Amino acid sequence: MNFTDEALQKYKQDRFPRSARYDPAWVHQNEMGPNVLWLTEALTQVMEIKAGMRVLDLGCGTAMSSIFLAREFGAQVWATDLWISATDNLKRIRDAGLEDRVFPIHAEAHALPFAEEFFDAIVSLDSYHYFGTDVHYLESCLLKLLKPRCQIGIVSPASPERIPAPPPTCLGKGWYWMNTVDWWRDLWSRTPGLDLEHAELLPHGWDMWMQWHEFLEASGPRNRPGGVKEFDQLRADNARYLGFVRMVGNRCSNQPGEPTA
Ligand SMILES: C[S@@+](CC[C@H](N)C(=O)[O-])C[C@H]1O[C@@H](n2cnc3c(N)ncnc32)[C@H](O)[C@@H]1O
Repeated sequence: MNFTDEALQKYKQDRFPRSARYDPAWVHQNEMGPNVLWLTEALTQVMEIKAGMRVLDLGCGTAMSSIFLAREFGAQVWATDLWISATDNLKRIRDAGLEDRVFPIHAEAHALPFAEEFFDAIVSLDSYHYFGTDVHYLESCLLKLLKPRCQIGIVSPASPERIPAPPPTCLGKGWYWMNTVDWWRDLWSRTPGLDLEHAELLPHGWDMWMQWHEFLEASGPRNRPGGVKEFDQLRADNARYLGFVRMVGNRCSNQPGEPTA
């Protein structure tokens, strides 16, 4: 693929210097939504990922975020997804030369095939809103896979303010599932076993989303049929309702004899 200077300017964001080094053709070809490398880099700005950590990347899609975490931070990553097969992801992981550090898993988020307290960190990028809205989900399905005093972090679409019903005409009805940043903060704040460390509207999230569409627009035919409509809606929204939540929590210690919060 050949990219115009205009497209490359949109792709290379000063805020995301690590992502800027990745081949835009690779990201374009494997994208499933807003540039997941930017979302992953934004999460790692507030969450610690270190060499040798065992990381669960839940809802990893085409595993670009898993490859990024392994390459940039030296983590071992279990790239876990439902819609994309493990075989498909293994090809991408092999091509990236990371077969020894990124392990593709096909699984549903409510039936994860991992031992309790196996992971040093859990991340979920542009995915958690598909399976994590049930008030019991984090406590009953996910938190137990994390070692005590370790972090879980997500970046997912969320709105700064509640989308009214009926929604504004320019947004259409397709965003009915979107919760506010306050809604997400409240959900994790009252989850037993979790200390919420960080919950905010991702700074410049709407701009980032727009810039991704501007890059795609300047790069020829799109992979995702719904992309053009999403771009129009983002433009019309002008950052009122469309953005991202960035949230990090820490699994409380459950060691016998340790004081609880
Ligand atoms: C919009 S895609 C994002 C993929 C990737 N994280 C990215 O940003 O490119 C949402 C992903 O969530 C995953 N997903 C949705 N529901 C899931 C579930 N119940 N269990 C596991 N993964 C799920 C899908 O398989 C899909 O790859």
